Amino acid sequence: MENEYIKSPLNYVGGKYKLLNQIIPIFPEEINTFVDLFGGGFNVGCNVKAEHVVYNDILKEVVSLLKYIQGNNTEDLLSEIEDYIKTYSLSKENKEGYLTLRSDYNSGIRTPMKFYTLLCYAFNNQIRFNSKGEYNMPFGKNRSSFNPSLRKKFIAFADRIQELNCTFLNISFDEFNFSTLTEEDFIYVDPPYYNSVASYNENGGWTEENEKILLEILDLINDNHIKFALSNNLKYENPLLDEWKNKYTVHYLNGNYSNCNYQKKDKSKDMEVLITNY
Ligand SMILES: C[S@@+](CC[C@H](N)C(=O)[O-])C[C@H]1O[C@@H](n2cnc3c(N)ncnc32)[C@H](O)[C@@H]1O
Repeated sequence: MENEYIKSPLNYVGGKYKLLNQIIPIFPEEINTFVDLFGGGFNVGCNVKAEHVVYNDILKEVVSLLKYIQGNNTEDLLSEIEDYIKTYSLSKENKEGYLTLRSDYNSGIRTPMKFYTLLCYAFNNQIRFNSKGEYNMPFGKNRSSFNPSLRKKFIAFADRIQELNCTFLNISFDEFNFSTLTEEDFIYVDPPYYNSVASYNENGGWTEENEKILLEILDLINDNHIKFALSNNLKYENPLLDEWKNKYTVHYLNGNYSNCNYQKKDKSKDMEVLITNY
């Protein structure tokens, strides 16, 4: 389903673009600083009305890319992509070109646009690094390319980032300085879903300890009268969340992720939710 929001040109499993028309109306109307604590592809933060947006993610390659997009004009960014396409003769069919670019990226200078161009030709355009920190998605044979539709998405997204008053951070959620926030601010939390499968979960993963710390932080934020919203899906086995959510308001959304992994038989629990403290 299309909507009026900007769609990130980064493909994220669990990206919230399709749910924006259900999530954003639940957010407070007036927001001073909006914190997108697990920003990922930035589908949410880039579409929210706020005086100031703080994007954070633990993945440094993605944060560097977004910062670079912010600091350069869109025409120059497109020329950089086109230069890489030319240098490596990239196309939907040229596997060798893709593999050479990937190996140059992994062993040489990792420029943000080299990373982005690589993603455009990768399988499912997905982001995945191995334990040595090497980008390791296979070639997106006959499917992935910097095609006109992706180009259009990239342009709209880059233009939006450049006009936003946005700060990009690259820290773990538990290192964020929450003490600077006030009651006019709002924190949106879209962590990896505990017990789910996503490429950004593969190195080290999202542990029960991470989940516990996050829920404790959200309780503290609540004690400080700061509003938050947490995305999750109740289909995953997550006893901590099941119990914790009863303290807050649970909004049931009509989630429809084609990419997710159905493990539970009980489909009545297959439910995307937004949990808020207001
Ligand atoms: C579900 S995705 C966010 C998707 C995003 N809301 C969107 O719509 O594009 C979860 C993100 O959390 C990030 N992440 C994982 N562990 C983290 C941590 N400890 N601190 C901050 N971010 C983390 C991952 O890199 C991933 O980008």
